[in-house]
Formats: sequence, structure tokens, C-alpha cells
Amino acid sequence: MSQQPNGSSGVGAPRERAGAGAQPPAIVTAELLAPALLHELKQPLTGVDAAAALLERALGSLLTGREEWLLLRQQVVRLAEVMSEYDALFHAGDASEVSFDVGPVVARAVQLLAHRVRPLSRRFALAQAERPARGYGSAAAVVHAATNILGNALDAIEGAGRDARVAVRVLAGGPGAQVQVRVSDEGPGIPEAVRARLFEPRFSTKPPERGSGLGLHLSRQLMARFGGEVFLVDAADPSRLPWAVTEFCIRIPSPPAGRSP
Ligand SMILES: Nc1ncnc2c1ncn2[C@@H]1O[C@H](COP(=O)(O)OP(=O)(O)OP(=O)(O)O)[C@@H](O)[C@H]1O
Ligand SMILES: [Mg+2]
Repeated sequence: MSQQPNGSSGVGAPRERAGAGAQPPAIVTAELLAPALLHELKQPLTGVDAAAALLERALGSLLTGREEWLLLRQQVVRLAEVMSEYDALFHAGDASEVSFDVGPVVARAVQLLAHRVRPLSRRFALAQAERPARGYGSAAAVVHAATNILGNALDAIEGAGRDARVAVRVLAGGPGAQVQVRVSDEGPGIPEAVRARLFEPRFSTKPPERGSGLGLHLSRQLMARFGGEVFLVDAADPSRLPWAVTEFCIRIPSPPAGRSP
């Protein structure tokens, strides 16, 4: 997108600026900006998908057997999923709630960050629940929240020492207890002043190219929409990992009685 001399992208910019004379009307209003962007992205995404299929046909298992290729394919699937789910997930309306197994959903979220998790080797652990962990609401919302919170934990341990660990745990209590996904890290921790603003939209301590400050806000909004929660785990919480400097929790509602298998 070409930049205007005043540094704004032009799209959705204020129509009048003091001393700047009349500005041409914005082509896309702020309200339509996200849907317009999704619309524009569909074509190149279809192109990438088609090119990948052609490459697979030409190179066969030489390509499809490689982990890097699998990662690329998974990211393309995720992009398509984000785009098709965007409306249902982020817009109020007829969100349909379903019962789902939390374990595979969390495993998939971790898989989507495989390129960042794998280099950690033993410093990363994914612990599944020992009992069946059934959740209710939107599996897509859980993937969204888990990838964002794990992404934050991975950011946090960068530069925090060569031994810093990250763990993702699925905790399932007894019957009726809600499933929790805990993400723990041994990063530098969160100062009090930042804690108070964690879930504010556009609040970020990262440079603009690394953080938009929307991850936690959207994760909390999405989970709340389906009756779940995202919160920072208290230092005194008995289920907290002993070594965790920071631990976040995604709480997932249980299926209503009679819906559980
Ligand atoms: N595990 C963590 N350790 C330390 N600080 C954290 C952690 N998780 C979140 N934060 C703090 O909370 C802020 C807000 O997080 P949030 O995920 O909403 O935005 P972001 O990561 O900065 O940007 P993005 O929109 O790309 O997610 C971060 O900038 C960081 O300061
Ligand atoms: Mg983030």
C-alpha cells in the first residue's frame, strides 16, 4: 500500500485535515476495511494453495515428506480458516456452539507454532489431561486464544536466558469441572503497571512490527462470547506450575448436561 506524504495509508484516513485542504473521500470506510482486506486476500491465498498443489504433483513425496512443507501447508489451511471463520468468530450473530475434545484443539494450536516451539526442544512441554477433556463453545476460539497466548510466552522467553522454559497444559478436573488450558513461561514476568492493562485493545510493550496489542484483548472477547475466560493466573493458585514466572489460563465451559458423550 502506498504511503501518503503525511504517513497515513490513505484508506480510512480523516477526510479533512486542518490546513491540508479538502481530502478526497476514503474509498473504504473503517467499517469495511477488515471485510475488504479479507476479500482481497482470498485471491492470493487461492493462488498459493493452487501453486502448492502443483508443486506436490511435480515433486511428490520428495516434498510432501518434509516437515517444513507440512508446516507451510498447515499455515495455508489456517489462513483459509481464519478468513472463512472471521465473520462468525468476530461478529455478533448466530454463533453456533458445539461440544469438542480440547486435547486435539490445543495440540493443533501448538502445531501451528511448531517453527517456534521445536527449537526449544526439552524446554517446551505439552501435557495433555489424564481425564477426558470436553469443552463447549467454539474450538476455533480456543485455537485463537491458545496460539496468541503461547505466542506471547515464546516472545517472553526470548532473551530470558538459555534455560527458560515454556509449558502448555490441559487441566481437566472431575465431572462437571471446566477444562483449563494453562500456558506457563519463565520469561521476565509482567510488571504491575503492565498487568493492569494486559487486556486493553492496542496495549503493547513490543515494537510495532512485533505486536499490535490485540492478541489478549481478542482472545478474551472471543472466549467470553462462548462463556469462557482468559486470565492471568494468580501467584497463589495451587494448580500453577511451580517454576512459572507467568501463567495464563484459558477456561473453557463444559458441555451442558446431556450433551457430553
Ligand atoms: N507471557 C508474557 N510475559 C510477559 N509479558 C506479557 C506476556 N503476555 C503478554 N505480555 C504483555 O502484554 C502485552 C499485551 O499482549 P497482547 O498479546 O495483547 O499484545 P502483543 O503480544 O503486544 O501484540 P499482538 O497483538 O501481536 O498479540 C504484551 O505487549 C506484553 O507486554
Ligand atoms: Mg500477543
